[in-house]
Amino acid sequence: MKHNAIFITGTDTNVGKTFVTLLLMKKLQSLGYLVQGIKPVASGCIRNDDGLLVNEDALRLQHTSSHFYSYPMINPIAYQDSIAPHIAAQRASQLLTKQSLIDAIERSLKLDAGLYLIEGCGGWTIPLNLHERYSQVIVAMKLPVMVVIGMRLGCLNHALLTMDHLTQSHTPVLGWVANVIDPTFEALDENIQTLQHCIKSPLLATVPYHSCSNDLEINWNLESIFKNISIAVKDVTNRVDIE
Ligand SMILES: Nc1ncnc2c1ncn2[C@@H]1O[C@H](COP(=O)(O)OP(=O)(O)OP(=O)(O)O)[C@@H](O)[C@H]1O
Ligand SMILES: [Mg+2]
Repeated sequence: MKHNAIFITGTDTNVGKTFVTLLLMKKLQSLGYLVQGIKPVASGCIRNDDGLLVNEDALRLQHTSSHFYSYPMINPIAYQDSIAPHIAAQRASQLLTKQSLIDAIERSLKLDAGLYLIEGCGGWTIPLNLHERYSQVIVAMKLPVMVVIGMRLGCLNHALLTMDHLTQSHTPVLGWVANVIDPTFEALDENIQTLQHCIKSPLLATVPYHSCSNDLEINWNLESIFKNISIAVKDVTNRVDIE
């Protein structure tokens, strides 16, 4: 089954997956798309007034989406500890498996809420348990992937390892985003050029560093940031239409 969904992964934790996803949601909404952000697995959650474990990323995705769905639809698997999810699952005496994650994502996708942007957890091939990886879920579901590359020293190795793994697993890659998370990163342009040379899929956006990055209402020039996004997204929606 083909889904109207894009999986957003990154070169690491804290590279701007949520940040880029939120900007992308705004951009796609401005193009007339109904978008739904979800974060199927989140660690680092706090209990809200109703006793529900909630995660900041997931709450931001919930509030920026075109529809407002209940929290468990946005983030069905939530752990309190801010640690790797398979360890958080162990500590919570829960079993996190490839099949349980596929089932959880499928349940959210059944809402049929437009174009889904699914934020991953950590980097591409993070463990779910000692035998299964998050990447296997996305490969099994045949979801197209977008990679957020956090532009900082060390990113070339992380980016190329991620891209090589995606290629080896025959995962469709829509493209990548150069997200400038370190304003002091030297030779930014040369690094981006190197990545463009080494990565087959297109550069979809270069997101500049912004000192008040938590304020999405600032005057982002989304037109110039996401120059190549329309083609990539049409590719996803066309595939679903053909199906
Ligand atoms: N372009 C940018 N300019 C300035 N700050 C940024 C930028 N992109 C991300 N940040 C900041 O970097 C931090 C990490 O970003 P974000 O939470 O989006 O990363 P993530 O990859 O989603 O992390 P996680 O693995 O925890 O989900 C946040 O404080 C965010 O505001
Ligand atoms: Mg995040």
